[in-house]
Amino acid sequence: MSKRISIHGQWSSRLMFILAATGAAIGLGNIWKFPYLAGENGGGAFVLVYLLCLALIGIPIMMAEVLIGRRGRQSPVNTLHSLSVEAGASGSWRLVGWAGMLAGLVILSYYSVIAGWTLAYLMRMLSGTFVRVTAEGSGSIFAQLVTDPERLLAWHTIFMVMTIKVVSRGVTNGLEKAAKILMPMLFFLVLVLVAYATRNGDFAQAFNYLFYTDFSKLTPTGVLTAMGHAFFTLSLGMGAMLVYGSYLPSGVSIAQTSILVGLLDTLVALLGGLATFSIVFANGLAAGEGPGLIFQTLPIAFGQMPGGMFFGALFFLLLVFAAWTSAIVLIEPLVAWLIENREMERIRAAIWTGMVAWLLGIVTILSFSHWSFSFHFGGVLKRHGLFDVLDIVTSSIILPLGGLCMALFAGWVMARDSVVDELGGLAGVGFKLWYFIIRFITPAAMLLIFLRAIGVL
Ligand code: TRP
Repeated sequence: MSKRISIHGQWSSRLMFILAATGAAIGLGNIWKFPYLAGENGGGAFVLVYLLCLALIGIPIMMAEVLIGRRGRQSPVNTLHSLSVEAGASGSWRLVGWAGMLAGLVILSYYSVIAGWTLAYLMRMLSGTFVRVTAEGSGSIFAQLVTDPERLLAWHTIFMVMTIKVVSRGVTNGLEKAAKILMPMLFFLVLVLVAYATRNGDFAQAFNYLFYTDFSKLTPTGVLTAMGHAFFTLSLGMGAMLVYGSYLPSGVSIAQTSILVGLLDTLVALLGGLATFSIVFANGLAAGEGPGLIFQTLPIAFGQMPGGMFFGALFFLLLVFAAWTSAIVLIEPLVAWLIENREMERIRAAIWTGMVAWLLGIVTILSFSHWSFSFHFGGVLKRHGLFDVLDIVTSSIILPLGGLCMALFAGWVMARDSVVDELGGLAGVGFKLWYFIIRFITPAAMLLIFLRAIGVL
């Protein structure tokens, strides 16, 4: 079969793909979620297990998604359809693409609200709101923000416009340009913050917190958490990497680039964690967890430090960049599909898609105030009503099932020859190992992650 060409264009080089895919992978999850998960689950022991999961689950699934995308060269729905028909399998595999496309839309709806918080905090840092703030003061600034729907709506709108703007300009002038400009700045900001933290923070304690290896603190739950995070942090399971793979020039090694993206993502998570905890510990504050660490504890720490407002602003700028380069890929599959199947112009497709996500975001905004309610799920108390429902349905249910399907598709549905052809550079033992992992290990792991997420395990 002759090679397909994407009607949307392609990355102008291997480096551009690496930057774009790293941008998709590095998100809000890297800066706060990974460090506190590590701290809670035995530090270095968790980091080791996480690295193992990255090698055994994350990177192999990423390779599968990218190769499916490059083979099909269309939006996830059409790629999965064409490739399954080509392989003599049921065209229903395209439903995996549909699920991912809708999940992306829903995730963007709340991702944009949270990204709006980071924009709001960037402004607050710049205006000196947190100078010598007390714990109560910081808590109430946060509470005031999240229970003010109009303010949240304004920030959510700004972030959505930023996202639509990039996507509407297409692969080369939009997605690639954003990655080319924002990713080097993001890496630079991480380094600046680490340097600031080593000078002004308690680097030794942070290092100890993240890397002191205590296997007795590592539980089976911790292992499952590491597995789930290795998958989540690479933005897998919804067709994000698939659609980025569909713009990858042929001849670029999928194995090498995927490994590099996995390593860069981990590097930023570790450096971000070191900087955050150094600053938090230097001010005698508790490591805490979740959004509270970044939006409540960290501002108190910055408020007490020399140059704190400036470096605090840089920290939130880093988060804005991380969120922005992830948000754009959340709607790219749907936008690509609208262009392919509805013959829509890209700019219209991006505006429509963004508007739907924007409207849906109002549900999340109201979850923190007027529509708030709590419930139990998987043995955990969820406090933010519909926001938590949307988050659970997408990241705990659809994404792991999507990852399972991608692994099965590359491992069992596609002809072995097509897979070998796409993986090109990966020969001999390397290929055999990957093929075994993708056929047997990752499907089992995805099932475990799914069962854990819904509270069965
Ligand atoms: N990886 C992102 C983070 O670390 C979160 C994420 C998960 C994501 N799935 C995604 C981002 C899909 C974009 C697309 O924060």
